[in-house]
Amino acid sequence: MSRIFSGVQPTGNLHLGNYLGAIRNFVELQAEENSECIYCVVDLHAITVWQDPAALRANTREVAAAYLAAGIDPKRSIIFNQSAVSAHAELAWVFNCVARLGWLNRMTQFKEKAGKHRENASVGLYAYPNLMAADILAYKATHVPVGEDQKQHLELTRDIAQKFNNDFGVDFFPMTEPLIFGAATRVMSLRDGSKKMSKSDPSDYSRINLTDGPDEIARKVRKAKTDPHPLPETTEGLEGRPEARNLVGIFAALSGRDVADVLGEFGGQQFSAFKAALVDLAVEKLGPMGAEMKRLMADSAYVDDVLRDGAKRAAAIATPIMDEVKDIVGFLRP
Ligand code: TRP
Repeated sequence: MSRIFSGVQPTGNLHLGNYLGAIRNFVELQAEENSECIYCVVDLHAITVWQDPAALRANTREVAAAYLAAGIDPKRSIIFNQSAVSAHAELAWVFNCVARLGWLNRMTQFKEKAGKHRENASVGLYAYPNLMAADILAYKATHVPVGEDQKQHLELTRDIAQKFNNDFGVDFFPMTEPLIFGAATRVMSLRDGSKKMSKSDPSDYSRINLTDGPDEIARKVRKAKTDPHPLPETTEGLEGRPEARNLVGIFAALSGRDVADVLGEFGGQQFSAFKAALVDLAVEKLGPMGAEMKRLMADSAYVDDVLRDGAKRAAAIATPIMDEVKDIVGFLRP
């Protein structure tokens, strides 16, 4: 029996990278027998940087809507928002006291996000990985699907689990395994193939948002940066051509084919022909999902019902584990 946990931050502008790199994989894992999937909207993580309260509410529903529209079944899997289950914050505090400053000082994501203004970053941003460990271990999750960029946080989660077990002389928390989805699902900006597709890129043309309609998808794909050469016949030919690699990678991921296979069909052709095929494919695959997301976002009562039911089921798993943690640590539960 495996228990899968993962999360997406409700910070707005969900895009193709979030879908191909994360949410699509969540849907696949749910189909596996003997697995229990818990998919969280990590609103506590979101506020490590400033979030407008009304936007945070809307973005939380947006992620939930994306989960549902992508095909996560709220009966089979658990969909909920992090702040609705108190075990996350409670266990994070315990882990703040288990993890060492030296460990957090090594986290590359904090360095990137805090940038030059480290003194001005929130304490929450610094402690972010401890909260992530709490998310995972509050459920004793065995597997966590994440992108390459979260690998270091998963290693820290194992270090925290190990130190907790050691310090208290227990065999309590599992060593969670990451499920890293390959580089093929790393979606880059449509304006610059060397940068990740990002919600915060000022140009909307750099990304395909999950709520983009057919016209927007077509416009963005047609405008996507390319180079002057025809597509290569082999994967080696993509070397040094980040924009070509990205568009071919997106085509492969959306069609469920491998990159070599896609180049077998389009190698030697001009980008214009390939882009036309990519527009058709992207509209076919993403159009219905975007429409369903919009429909769900207009039905906040339904989305809130799903989240409420999910939080109840999540708490039913996490609360007994948190109670045991309290006993292990020596907190009275009078
Ligand atoms: N840090 C993850 C990200 O930005 C989101 C996240 C929070 C997460 N808690 C998690 C992912 C627990 C997996 C498991 O992508």
